Amino acid sequence: MRAKDLIASMTKKAAAPQVSAPAATPMISLDPPSGTRDFFPEDMRYKTWLFDSFRKAASSFGFQEYDAPVLENEELYKRKAGEEITDQMYNFVDKEGAKVTLRPEMTPTLVRMVMSRMRMAGEAVQMTDVLPLKWFSVPQCWRFETTQRGRKREHYQWNCDIIGVKEATAELELLAATVYFFESLGITAADVGIKVNSRKIMGAALKQAGISDDSFPKVCVIVDKIDKIGAAEVTKLLTSGELQFDEATAAKVVAVVSKDFKLEDHVELEGVPELQKLLALSEKAGIRDWLVFDPSVVRGLAYYTGIVWEAFDRKGVLRAIAGGGRYDALFSLYGSPKPVPCAGFGFGDCVIMELLKERNLLPNFSRSVDFVVAAYPGSYAEALNVARELRKAGSTVDMYLEDAKKVGNVFKFADKVGARMMAFVAPGELDKGMVRIKDLRGGGEGQRIEKDVPLDDLSNYQRYF
Ligand code: HAM
Repeated sequence: MRAKDLIASMTKKAAAPQVSAPAATPMISLDPPSGTRDFFPEDMRYKTWLFDSFRKAASSFGFQEYDAPVLENEELYKRKAGEEITDQMYNFVDKEGAKVTLRPEMTPTLVRMVMSRMRMAGEAVQMTDVLPLKWFSVPQCWRFETTQRGRKREHYQWNCDIIGVKEATAELELLAATVYFFESLGITAADVGIKVNSRKIMGAALKQAGISDDSFPKVCVIVDKIDKIGAAEVTKLLTSGELQFDEATAAKVVAVVSKDFKLEDHVELEGVPELQKLLALSEKAGIRDWLVFDPSVVRGLAYYTGIVWEAFDRKGVLRAIAGGGRYDALFSLYGSPKPVPCAGFGFGDCVIMELLKERNLLPNFSRSVDFVVAAYPGSYAEALNVARELRKAGSTVDMYLEDAKKVGNVFKFADKVGARMMAFVAPGELDKGMVRIKDLRGGGEGQRIEKDVPLDDLSNYQRYF
């Protein structure tokens, strides 16, 4: 149906149906698919601003941007630890029989890309020629989730990762970049905190209980649910199903994630001194106020192996703002002959926007352009040239696309597009080699300043005001 017909059918008054009129076509759904978002121009201004802020923060810390297709090989996510993310994939078999998926997260893609770079570098090249690297991206990720405040079926996720660094200096750098970003938007440590913990503590407890390393990711995925389902339910899951832990082991696991677990009481456990060092160094990095040790944070993704963290709203209203951690085993899982240490975080675009709105920290963006160029009847060709010269000089220019027969309409248009200046191109001035420029924001109330500027000096129009 053509737009004209569609509008006609929408506005048609209930009248006696014409015998020959075709049946009205039902209108298409005007909503995007469930859990996904349209970005209208006014939304795009905020999105662009947010992404620019992500990019600025990452660049300030020396991260380089990368990107990859949103379509990924499904096998990258075939992990068997019972993570939610693998059940939430938008996966399908393509027309050549390849099993693909819209990426639910970026980390596997990053590892795939770095592995391919290392392979390209060849045997003769030391890993140190490629690593360490600090990369970032802002990919769209797709998860078939139950949508709720701050959780959608698609979201953009700022990712920063450091590959090739074993020490917790990597985690510190990542946390500092996150804090830098928050501060750049006016968010303080009173608004947001970052809970930190280390999965190594859980690993040490399991080792003490004689549990094999294979169970580690599964235990972490179960324990991650403790806030939601409670300790009793976690114990039930640990003592049944595949794991079949005895009660004593399950109790040990639950003890290391309980609120009563204090780092200073367990300095002998692997992971504790490293975490203490990170917290001590965070003072010098100026981010100590943001960090809170929280033994219950283990994160829901199977691949984390060490320090993990989650940024949270201190008011406790919003969902997790960002999350990350160390994942030293993912390269090996993908067949790398050598293990490669990695750490990184993902920071979604939904919760942060909620937080900024709530704290009144969103800038007031409105539509704006430097110039509207309008032509009196018969002067359109010259007006095009004026617009071109102004653009060449670096101004943004919106052309009034009709003859300016009614000046009032041109002003209305200039108002709508947020123009600062207006160039009226008319024969009177053109004959003198000039163009009339109006400063729409200058002058007093109801007053407009206008000057005639030589056509061959348009790039310097500001000098005339
Ligand atoms: P994640 O915890 O699954 O980690 O996601 C990281 C962040 O992405 C969340 O804290 C949240 O801000 C956002 N997020 C996740 N799912 C949704 C959703 N359905 N709707 C809106 N926002 C969402 C990861 O994805 C890891 N790959 C992060 C990472 C990078 N770890 C190491 N490097």
